Amino acid sequence: MEQFVIKGGNAVCGEVEISGAKNAALAILAAAIMTDETVTVENLPDVRDINIMLDALSDIGAVVERVDRHTAHINGSTIGQLSVDYEYIKKIRASYYLLGALLGKYRSAEVALPGGCVIGSRPIDLHVKGFKALGADVDISYGLISVKADRLTGSHIYMDKVSVGATINVMMAAALAEGKTVIENAAKEPHVVDVANFLNSMGANIRGAGTDVIRIVGVEKLHKTDYSVIPDQIEAGTFMCAVAATRGDVLVKNVIPKHLEATSAKLVEAGCRIQEFDDAVRVICDGPLVHTQITTLPYPGYPTDMQPQMTAVLGMAEGTSTVTESIFENRFKYVDELARMGADIQVESNIAIIRGVRGYTGARVCAPDLRAGAALVIAGLAADGITIVDDIHYIQRGYENFEGKLRQLGAQIERTCCEKEIQKFMLQVS
Ligand code: EPZ
Repeated sequence: MEQFVIKGGNAVCGEVEISGAKNAALAILAAAIMTDETVTVENLPDVRDINIMLDALSDIGAVVERVDRHTAHINGSTIGQLSVDYEYIKKIRASYYLLGALLGKYRSAEVALPGGCVIGSRPIDLHVKGFKALGADVDISYGLISVKADRLTGSHIYMDKVSVGATINVMMAAALAEGKTVIENAAKEPHVVDVANFLNSMGANIRGAGTDVIRIVGVEKLHKTDYSVIPDQIEAGTFMCAVAATRGDVLVKNVIPKHLEATSAKLVEAGCRIQEFDDAVRVICDGPLVHTQITTLPYPGYPTDMQPQMTAVLGMAEGTSTVTESIFENRFKYVDELARMGADIQVESNIAIIRGVRGYTGARVCAPDLRAGAALVIAGLAADGITIVDDIHYIQRGYENFEGKLRQLGAQIERTCCEKEIQKFMLQVS
């Protein structure tokens, strides 16, 4: 297994280029098979989840050509299997986007049930509600979810909870249903809008994405398109938190500042200065960090995927901060690891009470999930001494060349695969 080894204490300074949004790209790749013509998707992040999704498309018979690390051609005309193997859903929950894509195109699909994960139970009842409303029969048994429909007919669907996945999955199926579909209480995340724009570029008729009411008029078929994925606002926010934690100064390039509004607002409250440009934000933190309050909410609220990273920052802020996690039921697991670096955080139900400490001390810690792993790296960048983060395969799921981008900003961080390499790094930085 690989690790990140970090010698803390360097302020991150310079410029960083943000990659394409993983959570938009995963859904877009699934939707790409909804036409029999060739689709080109650009600005893909070169991360594990994307590579697994491309493998899943190949596995069901689509032709996938990786033009380069960030571009793929996909042709869904040769799909011969409508059942997605368990190994894919085990690795990435987002394989379930193939339910909506295959149901829309072939009126049939089968995917292994996605289990829960470390941050919560992750139910799919709203996906099922939407598919049934469109006329599909849904059978959940033997660890599989099968959806079939003689006809898909537009419907009026109210989402009991705001769900990114259910909104996207139902939107895909409805794009090729007969008639009109209205999705109420829809998720408004930038990647929901990106998927809607992608489907519209293929000839779909989707209006209102980005608001809480999405209107879809089904079309007969979809056609080819060339599409570029939006920048990843969570990767951008992660680097912005690294600036705050290390008192740095970084120009975060290739972003859409509007997508970062909640993250920027909270970093300003915590003591940073932020300058916005057309496709970049400059984050400067040259004074003390101060406490603030965070509650995670669906977009445009503060993103749950930015919760661990901000907690790591506030753990070093003067005063007492609170972070309330309102989306997932178990997203504070990493706090025990932060505590081993000196953080003083008490978790009561879904609220973290954070008493700021002067600084962290390096330790050997374990990444429990993707965003918590990034938060532990942020803490390591600020810590006194050496931090070793184990289980970095979680981080590599969603951050392209994370250590390389951080090194370019002056961080002392290496990816290592054994004790010998760890020792070598320790000698180099001592
Ligand atoms: C997406 O997950 C993201 N994953 C998550 O990012 C992100 O945290 C989440 O949206 C919220 O923004 C991808 O896009 C691949 P939800 P998703 O459905 O779609 C409940 C990361 O780090 N719910 O919006 O699964 C659910 O339990 C990952 O990149 C139901 O009750 O999230 C949760 O409380 C982690 N029934 C809430 O809705 C359902 O049928 C929001 O979940 C579906 C969801």
